[in-house]
Amino acid sequence: MLSGQPVGKGADTGPTVCSCFGVGRNTICAAIREQGLKTAAEIAACLKAGGNCGSCVPELKKLLVDTELARLSAA
Ligand code: FES
Repeated sequence: MLSGQPVGKGADTGPTVCSCFGVGRNTICAAIREQGLKTAAEIAACLKAGGNCGSCVPELKKLLVDTELARLSAA
């Protein structure tokens, strides 16, 4: 419990993107895909990521674009 490992279903949350809330890249990309998130504000509403200092917002926007491109190329 005090090992510093994420608590949860054992899923790999990926490298931390939002240090304010400890939200990882994989968690964010999964939420974008599964919940159809389109903006950084929607990510903040869903995961809190980007909702505090805002320094991760540029990375969130990049993940939105990258995830959309991956979705389009898989279609
Ligand atoms: S690092 Fe994401 S809101 Fe501060």
